[in-house]
Amino acid sequence: MGYIGSHVSILLLEAGHDVAILDNLSNSSVVVLDRIKQITTRLPEFYNMDVRDTSNLELAFIKFHPDAVIHFAGLKAVGESVIDPLRYYEWNVMGSVVLLQVMNKYQVKKLVFSSSACVYGDVAEMPITEISCIAPTNPYGQTKAMIEQILADLVSSDQGWSVARLRYFNPAGAHISGLIGEDPNGIPNNLPPYISQVAVGKLDVLKIFGGDYPTPDGTGVRDYIHVMDLARGHLSALNYLSNESGLLTVNLGTGHGYSVLEMVKAFEIASGKKVPYRIAERRSGDVAISFADPSRAEQLLGWKASLGLNEMCRDQWHWQSKNPNGYRSSCAY
Ligand code: WQD
Repeated sequence: MGYIGSHVSILLLEAGHDVAILDNLSNSSVVVLDRIKQITTRLPEFYNMDVRDTSNLELAFIKFHPDAVIHFAGLKAVGESVIDPLRYYEWNVMGSVVLLQVMNKYQVKKLVFSSSACVYGDVAEMPITEISCIAPTNPYGQTKAMIEQILADLVSSDQGWSVARLRYFNPAGAHISGLIGEDPNGIPNNLPPYISQVAVGKLDVLKIFGGDYPTPDGTGVRDYIHVMDLARGHLSALNYLSNESGLLTVNLGTGHGYSVLEMVKAFEIASGKKVPYRIAERRSGDVAISFADPSRAEQLLGWKASLGLNEMCRDQWHWQSKNPNGYRSSCAY
């Protein structure tokens, strides 16, 4: 029911799939279910549970009989993972092992895994391809790399498995309806929701972490991808797995990098709001530049991002301006 999962659920329901959402609500809201129904007129099944809870997970598999699993469950704050690595290894890695054991037991062997560009770490050569070196620089990225390795070993051990590892770059934007979007707990760690919360007046000023990077304007460059493009990538991967077994690994990015200042400017144009900022110290663990070579996803999945920065900022603002406090102020409108 989180940011990516809710957008993928919309497309799955609209494509005629039956959807069951398993979520412990640690970083999401049950309000999303009603929003999904408003958008698609269909209500997914919902199981309030933790992915590490074997017995409840088995009950859900017995009840729902899934054909495939899309695995989003996990902690995802880079800075937090440095402070509390054990929590990240327990939730992300152990949770994934429990899920895979239950899938194996019930002979559900199609999996789309939510991985991250974070597995690459500090790559010298841009754009980043799927054969770029795997060298995560923080525990969060390590958990994603470990789970990727577990999946590779599982596929090698049993040709019955079909697995897609999707390496997300930087998600941004929201569904065109403005009914669902990114709603981080507390102060956002990542840039898009931080900018939109400054624009809507929830936060005072954006701190730009570093103005002296070797980039055109000195601020960090990233490959921002519209969450709807990202969601479409999941459906393309699921369709691919219905005909292929084995292991697929693709970058989901646009292939374009934008700096923090370019994001701020684009957001101000899209929202008509000023985004006050100040240049602060670099954030430890940050890389200067990161953007994808998405050609493998286009070749193998026929998938390509189609939405640009303006649509990301327009849709991010639409969601934030209609939901200044995210799902907490779940007023119907
Ligand atoms: C982007 C740029 C910051 C916040 C992380 C994870 C990745 C994915 C997305 C989960 C950088 C700058 C940011 C702020 C800033 N998460 N920035 N002020 O670090 O590229 O990726 O989030 O899947 O896996 O690693 O994203 O949005 O944190 O930072 O100046 O308040 O914005 O320095 O240049 P990142 P980000």
